[in-house]
Amino acid sequence: MSATTYPNYSPGLEGVVAGISTISEIISDTSTLVYRGYNVHDLASKGTFEETAYLLLYGKLPNRSELDAFNKTLRAERPVPKQVYDALRQLPKDTHPMDMAKVGFAVAAPYDPDYAVPATDQEANLRKAVRIVAKASTIIGNGHRIRSGKEPLEPKPNHSIAQNFLYLMSGEEPDAETAHVLDSSLTLYAEHGFNASTFACLVTVATLSDIYSGMVTGIGTLRGPLHGGANEEAMKMILEIGSPDKADAWIHQALANKRKIMGFGHREYKKRDPRAIYLTRVGKELCAKKGQEKWSQIADILENVMETEKGIYPNVDFPAAYAYYVLGFPIDLYTPIFVMARVSGWSAHVLEQLAHNRLIRPQCIYEGPHSAQWVPVDER
Ligand code: CMC
Repeated sequence: MSATTYPNYSPGLEGVVAGISTISEIISDTSTLVYRGYNVHDLASKGTFEETAYLLLYGKLPNRSELDAFNKTLRAERPVPKQVYDALRQLPKDTHPMDMAKVGFAVAAPYDPDYAVPATDQEANLRKAVRIVAKASTIIGNGHRIRSGKEPLEPKPNHSIAQNFLYLMSGEEPDAETAHVLDSSLTLYAEHGFNASTFACLVTVATLSDIYSGMVTGIGTLRGPLHGGANEEAMKMILEIGSPDKADAWIHQALANKRKIMGFGHREYKKRDPRAIYLTRVGKELCAKKGQEKWSQIADILENVMETEKGIYPNVDFPAAYAYYVLGFPIDLYTPIFVMARVSGWSAHVLEQLAHNRLIRPQCIYEGPHSAQWVPVDER
């Protein structure tokens, strides 16, 4: 890439303001994240993911009757067409569940009752968004069953989204603690401003393509290890280290080799990521309770060295990794769990974008050759 600097060019769009939003606010100085004015720590500790999804989609917290009606709709919309499962069965057995999720939503789209309604119809978009939030845990949970050689299960009508995922993943009734930890992590993962996957989703829907295409774009973008895929990579790294006595030497060697430490760093937070503050406490408590302290001890060493040597802190994906691990979730489902949550944030942004839509089309600076002379193919 060119070493020239240009006044209006910011690599990676760092610091570029690309929209106005009322959905969430990142306050880096105080390590605070709010969704529509509510501190995410309150939402995660006191509410349910369904309340947060409603807040993101409808702009206010639901009262009792609104929440009951929302839950009823979510439960009714939770099953997915059998054609989705037929398509997932065609995939190679080693297909990553993020790619299964992309296929699942792509196949579900034409079966949505509002499929043919134009993207400019906001009421239809909201109905589709609710169906997407409702179906995500079923697509991912039953997708996991299919790749494990098992038959999909019918979602149970009394389950929350977190319980539905756990039930489909394991085939067993989920225990309350696991469901609660997963539920609060979904709230923490639900929304985060103009992050890469949300922005990619907005680029798609701003062409007046449909919301399902936006979700597929979002999933594809979230999959990468610099974004949502970091939670899987962080756990692989912790497993590679293996034991606390190896952690200090490992991290110093990794930094000397200029290796990226997965689950650390953030474009927006220069201090601590508030989601990581919350999940670190939960993850460490879980490790102690399950007699698996070695993972939190490795985490402590990495955190201390990263803070002292680099001034870089863990992001949400680091504690999520070992919290999910001690709960027994397969590592390649960590990013799909992120999808189950983030479909609510993506959808809220889609609705906001389409309320005052304008095509998203930035420029690039041309540094290629000029005045090249055409030469016929046989003379080149
Ligand atoms: N390990 C080691 N060094 C790091 C790390 C890290 N995880 N993160 C940033 N740095 C260093 C980087 O090497 C660079 O140093 P120098 O200026 O000496 O070259 C400096 O910090 C700035 O890093 P950057 O990559 O230019 O910063 P960015 O804002 O472009 O990237 C990031 C942010 C999240 C991509 C990056 O911190 C990273 O790659 N982290 C690891 C992957 C990760 O955990 N991603 C999850 C992000 S949060 C949750 C989510 O959205 O999914």
